[in-house]
Amino acid sequence: MGTATATPTETFTEKFRQIGNVPTLPTAATRALAIVNDPNCSIRDFSKIIETDPALGTSLLKLVNSSFYSGGTKISDIHNAIVRLGLRETQNLILAVSVRSVFRWMPKGQEAERDRLWRHSSLTGVLSRQINEKLGFGFKGEEFSAGLSHDLGRIMLAVGYPDVFCKLANQKTTDENHLLRLEMEMLGFTHPELGAWLTTMWNLPDELTEAILYHHDPAKAPRHAVLAATVSLAEELANFMEMTKQVEGANISHNPGWSFMCSQWESVDNLDAELFANAIMSDAVTEAETLSLLSA
Ligand SMILES: [Fe+2]
Ligand SMILES: [Fe+2]
Repeated sequence: MGTATATPTETFTEKFRQIGNVPTLPTAATRALAIVNDPNCSIRDFSKIIETDPALGTSLLKLVNSSFYSGGTKISDIHNAIVRLGLRETQNLILAVSVRSVFRWMPKGQEAERDRLWRHSSLTGVLSRQINEKLGFGFKGEEFSAGLSHDLGRIMLAVGYPDVFCKLANQKTTDENHLLRLEMEMLGFTHPELGAWLTTMWNLPDELTEAILYHHDPAKAPRHAVLAATVSLAEELANFMEMTKQVEGANISHNPGWSFMCSQWESVDNLDAELFANAIMSDAVTEAETLSLLSA
């Protein structure tokens, strides 16, 4: 679906430079995301970086004290927050807070669409987490980050190509293939390519960029197809839940992510697809508190 071609990096960079809006990650977030992959990184180094950005620190403390992560005792400093969460989960939350901040780049007048897209993105993140848990893929939070960021390209469409974004939003459809075809017709590229450009610019991990680029065609992902397939299935279920307001009865048999998983593992192929989807969706709903916290 047009996503396997090289990302037209120069075109996007030039475009966003012209409109003066190349979205950036907060400096502290960039440094924190880079340092966490350093095996010599200590919690002290990590917390020092986060403390340079009060807004980031406040968001982290709010999350760690939410009932989703809380162990009962209130945590009021970054160092202890990281001890409770662990470096990896802290990294995921920094990314979540950063992705949330990108939504604020969307132009005025698009508030309803922005909120809808945020709900869709965070739901896809939580569903990705459920799929990983139930199928034992062994991801350690990158599936949540990938689900949350999968449609960053749509936000970039709203920022750089507002007319096209409006036309697509007015379609009022969740038929992803139809939307991708329209993007190709109107622009010659798709929102997965635009999203992958952004995460490449931000130097985010390759697995995240690949999951974004191939979330509509996971089998084509060269190295991280399972992550892309997880996001593909999660997105389908998110669309189903948003459209029907139900957590039962989704037909995932034609989803490319599900098909990929079935082709890789007999144990997945043997599952009752409908029951599996129902379990994923109803458990995702119980994580709703995380979503509302992130949206605050
Ligand atoms: Fe999506
Ligand atoms: Fe998408």
